[in-house]
Amino acid sequence: MAIKTKGVHHMAFLSRDMDETVRFYTDVMNFPVVVTLQLPDPDPFPGAVPGDLGGAKHYFFDIGNGDRLAFFWCPKDELVPTFAKIGAGNHIAFAVESGAELEAAKRHLIAKGVPIKSEIDHTFCRSIYFEDPNGITLELSVYQHPCTPEQPFLQDPEPTPATRKHLGDKQEKFLLRFGERGNATVLSGGNAAERANI
Ligand SMILES: [Fe+2]
Repeated sequence: MAIKTKGVHHMAFLSRDMDETVRFYTDVMNFPVVVTLQLPDPDPFPGAVPGDLGGAKHYFFDIGNGDRLAFFWCPKDELVPTFAKIGAGNHIAFAVESGAELEAAKRHLIAKGVPIKSEIDHTFCRSIYFEDPNGITLELSVYQHPCTPEQPFLQDPEPTPATRKHLGDKQEKFLLRFGERGNATVLSGGNAAERANI
């Protein structure tokens, strides 16, 4: 069975300053913030994507047509200022329609000899991560939450000032609270086995 994608789930870039990034994309580009994540420290899913995500903010913007643009602000990753400037992507995610399609894609990749780096349930989406021959991190993901301006997935209890202003009363209305490990559950890969023993 072949992989069946339906466009871009999200493309993830690096932000040198998340508040500045939010101001630009909301005020200038008119992209609503639809996901805010405050990742715990240490990195909750090391190895899934490049960089040290410990303590990172990860926000998604709705860019129309059901597609999203995502940014990481990583306080512990020294490469961010350089990569942010040249527009280097961190990873790209392709959307699949359902959990069954995600499972089918996983079986297909394994059959083709492509190692699955990680499988993660992010609550708002479920994803598998792997690499292309260049080492570019690819993700296949299925949404499990609307992640729309009307129903955003908000997990960051302390969004940046511009984000707080942009979200208005949605911050209280939609804020979801998870345990200290955040909203992600590593199902396989990375150091999942190690983490299971913590
Ligand atoms: Fe992603």
